[in-house]
Amino acid sequence: MTKYKEVKTKDDTFTLKSSEYNECYHSSEGALKETYYKHVEVGFDVIKDIEDEEIRILDICFGLGYNTFVSILNRPKNKKLKIFSPELDLELIKSLKNFKYPKEFEKISHIIEKISDNLYYKDEFLEIEVANMDARKYVKNLNNIHIVYQDAFSPKVNRELWTIEYFRDIKNILNKNGVITTYSVATPVRCALYNLGFKLFTHKSDLIRKGTIASLKEIDYPKVDFEEKLKRVECRVYED
Ligand SMILES: C[S@@+](CC[C@H](N)C(=O)[O-])C[C@H]1O[C@@H](n2cnc3c(N)ncnc32)[C@H](O)[C@@H]1O
Repeated sequence: MTKYKEVKTKDDTFTLKSSEYNECYHSSEGALKETYYKHVEVGFDVIKDIEDEEIRILDICFGLGYNTFVSILNRPKNKKLKIFSPELDLELIKSLKNFKYPKEFEKISHIIEKISDNLYYKDEFLEIEVANMDARKYVKNLNNIHIVYQDAFSPKVNRELWTIEYFRDIKNILNKNGVITTYSVATPVRCALYNLGFKLFTHKSDLIRKGTIASLKEIDYPKVDFEEKLKRVECRVYED
């Protein structure tokens, strides 16, 4: 049996289904649409007023690289991007130069090829590092991160990347403007973030299912009234 099955999503872009995790790498709503509206648009919008010259992004995890590639395509003018992304599956990364990406990615095909071959790319404005290692270990060595795309498989099959211990490490590497974007609305995930002192928000766009945006400061996004929710449900978290 092959490890991956190609799946066409509703916006006509392709993703894969993993037989190992029995889940798709993207939602059926659209691989490109989900990447843009759930992660990249929000991340860049929340930090649009920062003065730092470089935006530092943690992409959890690299998978097909959509989050990284769409970030490159939407890089704010005059800002450098440094993207850090762990990924356990080396076979997948090596195969990406042959993946059927959206036509929008054609203009960065040289970058995709370099990352697929070398797990690394650098030019005047970009530095991309894909690390073939466990995300839990990798994140401990980072710092000063502006944006985390929290895009692991679901807690049901990829629980180690949704625990309170993992999110504590993530909090420790964020800077004061730091923001986490995720598709997950699971109560144990929100509870972990809430217990760690994050403020919880959700997406503005009606073009995709809404997820969770976690920030250490107030941001101009619809707030999740989690105190109200906690009057009705127990605050359980996933633990290591
Ligand atoms: C949902 S996919 C990521 C999709 C990706 N963001 C994209 O745009 O294609 C989750 C990825 O996490 C990787 N992964 C799962 N657990 C991991 C871990 N502990 N450390 C590093 N990578 C992990 C899987 O191999 C898979 O490629």
